[in-house]
Amino acid sequence: MCGIVCYIGKKPEKILIEKLKRLEYRGYDSAGIAVKSDKGFDIFKAKGEIKNLESKVKEIDNSYLGIGHTRWATHGKPDEANAHPHISTDKKWVIVHNGIIENYSSLRDKLIGFGYEFYSETDTEIIAKLLQYYDNGNALETIRQTISVLKGSFALGIMKQDVDGIFFAKSKSPLFISKNEENVMVASDIICFKNFGDTFYQLSDGVFGFASSKKIEFYDKFGSVNIKEEKLDLNEMDDENKYEHFMLKEIYETKPAIKNISEFYSKQRLLEIFENLNVKNIRKIKLVGCGTAYHAALMGADMIEKATDIDCEVVVASEFRYSEPRIGEDTIVILISQSGETADTLAAFELAKQKGAITIGIINIEYSALAKKVDYLLPIKAGVEVAVASTKAYSAQLLVLYLLSQALGNKVKNSEIDLSTVKTLINDFDYGTTKELQDLAEYLRYNDKLFMIGRGKDYFTALEASLKIKETSYINSDTYYAGELKHGFLALIEEDTFVIVFATDKKLIDKTISNAEEARARGAKIILFTPFDIDKGITDKFFKVFKVKKTDDRLQCIENITMWQLIAYYISVNKGINPDKPRNLAKSVTVE
Ligand code: F6R
Repeated sequence: MCGIVCYIGKKPEKILIEKLKRLEYRGYDSAGIAVKSDKGFDIFKAKGEIKNLESKVKEIDNSYLGIGHTRWATHGKPDEANAHPHISTDKKWVIVHNGIIENYSSLRDKLIGFGYEFYSETDTEIIAKLLQYYDNGNALETIRQTISVLKGSFALGIMKQDVDGIFFAKSKSPLFISKNEENVMVASDIICFKNFGDTFYQLSDGVFGFASSKKIEFYDKFGSVNIKEEKLDLNEMDDENKYEHFMLKEIYETKPAIKNISEFYSKQRLLEIFENLNVKNIRKIKLVGCGTAYHAALMGADMIEKATDIDCEVVVASEFRYSEPRIGEDTIVILISQSGETADTLAAFELAKQKGAITIGIINIEYSALAKKVDYLLPIKAGVEVAVASTKAYSAQLLVLYLLSQALGNKVKNSEIDLSTVKTLINDFDYGTTKELQDLAEYLRYNDKLFMIGRGKDYFTALEASLKIKETSYINSDTYYAGELKHGFLALIEEDTFVIVFATDKKLIDKTISNAEEARARGAKIILFTPFDIDKGITDKFFKVFKVKKTDDRLQCIENITMWQLIAYYISVNKGINPDKPRNLAKSVTVE
């Protein structure tokens, strides 16, 4: 969600465009760059894709630094006036901003009172104006004063007319710096540093500073600070793609991710990670996440409750803070996040910590803010996920949650850690038959609504399958517990309504099929999704019985979802939608 990249070096206009393309995955609806040369600033902005910006950008003689931005609209529509960079009235300060300034309205009123005029609807423009307002000739001091009045989140890249370098500041939005000889790059994601630097600095909240071709300086409100230089791990950054879309590539990276996880987490490692965890006093476990990560949490709660006999509750991260959760030292809070930068999940973490709970993070991006803060980090080892719709990361989260359930079960009940299931999953793993998945996608694409039903964990799988279809195909796909049909939902069934029935648990299959029959009797077309052989008498009545490979019950959920990710992908492509960048969505949701 919004991305910034700043560059010190020759031809910044070319480098900034190239690097902004690497930030596209975060989601955006306009983009812009500002470039400094010996003639001053040149600013280019465009609505829509980076290629629109690229076609506007001209080569600039003797350009040597610049700042760039992809904007995901929050305050004001996605147009050129609102696109970043923003500039002060005296044209001395130019800035790009990722985050949200929560007190922007009162600051704006104050500045209007001082005679400032605004040309955009953004919260960011007030920062450019504040820099002018506080300007006392000392740029770092001006920046310190400006950020001290901002409430909310920000990662800032700033250029000043009379200074040859880039200023930066960070609070609650990610920001990294890398250098390569005399060239410097400041960016929202280290993915920009690929083929650039070997090391990077990760800024903490409250840090600001200055970078030039000669030096990088870091400060906080008390004075100068040191930041450790970290090694860039290029293996984590495979964002090249030979498939037609990243979503397809990433679905097919599920099996490699499962293998990575199984290589990384041996029985010994699981025991070591939790060696110092005192579980005697633990009375409850809360699992927190947003969207797909929330669905993983639902599945994880089931696994952990069964393995530990400790009560588990799942809370959507955006609700956690406001639900006044009764948590304390007797609670483990498990935070699940692919990006590790989701604002609501980070806020849930802060509250959990404040209340003394033990925190465990199930996270993909190991250099993310959340990964650095949790008491126990369980990386999901899925590799870079670029497509907005999460696929392999969800499956990896499920597997790591299973391993966590085993590790906690071992601590609480002294039970054996069972890793044989993972081996079975690897051996069994099957992506299904492409033709069959494509045919089903072709049937489903013409519907403007779909229903999915299931019981127990199948309901959770249906929730995630439904989210994937909604996100990438814009079909209104709705999910219900199968047993809830008669309590209201049946009223929605009309002749030929598609109802997809998830029935992958042997104990529940007969009951679920009875519910499917109830829907069919009212005109629904039933697609039954199951690993089991079904009597011909039943299958003949259904539109389709769609088989999934059977694996160990505890990990069947991974096998199940992969096929629905592929179906969602094919529906999207068949409808002519780019599945990697669904409308209105961002990959990394860094605002509340
Ligand atoms: C859906 C999807 C989102 C994310 C959610 C949380 O495909 O990707 O629902 O799961 O925004 O993001 P993370 O996991 O980065 O915290």
